[in-house]
Amino acid sequence: MKVLVVGGGGREHAVCAALCKSPRVSELHAAPGNGGISSIAQIHDVSATDICGMVKLAEQIKADYVFVTPDDPLIMGMVDALEAKGFKTFGPSKNAALIEGSKAFAKAFMEQHNIPTARHKTFSCADDALNYIESENVFPVVIKYDGPALGKGVVVAADLAQAKAAVNSMLVDKKFGDSIIVVEECLSGPEVTVLAFTDGKTVKPMPSSTDHKRAFDHDEGPNTGGMGVISPSPFYTPEMADCVMRDIIKPTIEGLRAVGRKFKGCLYFGLMLTDEGPKVIEYNCRFGDPETQTVLPLLETDLLDIMEAVHEERLHELDIVFKDSCAACVVMASGGYPGAYEVGFPISGLDEDFGVSTTVYHAGTKLENATQSATGGSPAVTGGGRVLGITAIGDSLPCAIKAAYQAVGKISFKNSHYRKDIGEKALLCVKH
Ligand code: AMP
Ligand code: GLY
Repeated sequence: MKVLVVGGGGREHAVCAALCKSPRVSELHAAPGNGGISSIAQIHDVSATDICGMVKLAEQIKADYVFVTPDDPLIMGMVDALEAKGFKTFGPSKNAALIEGSKAFAKAFMEQHNIPTARHKTFSCADDALNYIESENVFPVVIKYDGPALGKGVVVAADLAQAKAAVNSMLVDKKFGDSIIVVEECLSGPEVTVLAFTDGKTVKPMPSSTDHKRAFDHDEGPNTGGMGVISPSPFYTPEMADCVMRDIIKPTIEGLRAVGRKFKGCLYFGLMLTDEGPKVIEYNCRFGDPETQTVLPLLETDLLDIMEAVHEERLHELDIVFKDSCAACVVMASGGYPGAYEVGFPISGLDEDFGVSTTVYHAGTKLENATQSATGGSPAVTGGGRVLGITAIGDSLPCAIKAAYQAVGKISFKNSHYRKDIGEKALLCVKH
């Protein structure tokens, strides 16, 4: 089968690596791909948000399946456009992707279906929002832009001044465009991501994970797309998993179907394990990045079989198996990320022997010379904020984390930055 993967980050590299293992995938294509993906798939210069371009590419290569990975094309309706032309896809329709596309919709949906989440109110007028925040007078308070905002639409305001600045930038200066905001209660507790395959009726969760969103060690600095992940999350006990399945995952899948938004693909549950029980912080309509780089390497079932079962709505028939191991992913980023950074620096060490349990996923990389391979002679240069995700699998989390950092130590590029404490806090907390 010919499979086309839409996207070009570390997550898409992990998806392509999983699909490469399938004996039934005869041709793997990716658009736009990246330096690493080009060593395992044919890459095409079509942007992930170019819906017409992607449909044309699918026609040109006669794709049997298209795996739409990133949020933007899903929210814009790429799956609908491809399906309308007769292509089989993996990913939710535009209608179902609204669960990520609008935070106000997601909050109203959770309220309607009794799914535990932070208390909230929605506003379109800055004065109304500020009057509400002042009258509640509880800080920190969380202010969220309704639509997609490149991961920068959430502000945890420590006081009224920060809250005012956030509300004004979103509703008066319209930093992300013309939309509404959600003001919500600030929750506290460990954060856990659960990715789940679903065909809209049956849901099969993958191993849990914990991302590290802040740029610097000890959770300091600005929020990023994610600087590293451990899986499984030590906070997510089997009892917690049962409770989340009963109170959050099942009601979400059933609720979406009930409101005419049947979700097919991978649904991302961003959870906070509070003293009052697990609550949803956010839904994403897709695989997480870098969560996918820790979870998919543990997958033993053929990803193409899962795609087919989801598409044909017979996920209940499939037994999805993951290795009973742990994984850790450390992101190497360009110095300055998530702010301004320079690109084009050669990456050295990619041709080192990392062993069978370690994989270097490329995120923002480019090949200096497209005819060279990404693994032969290190011709890759930096080309984005998050450059590489180095994942190691081990029998325990400490083993996986140690192996990931050993591999990170072999790779270098100018101005590289990575967190030195991935997994540390989680391991300390569970010990006590
Ligand atoms: P999001 O873009 O929705 O993933 O939010 C980014 C980050 O903001 C989350 O990973 C949390 O760390 C934080 N956050 C979002 N909502 C809340 C909340 N209600 N309480 C505390 N932290 C939150
Ligand atoms: N790692 C967070 C996300 O994918 O949204």
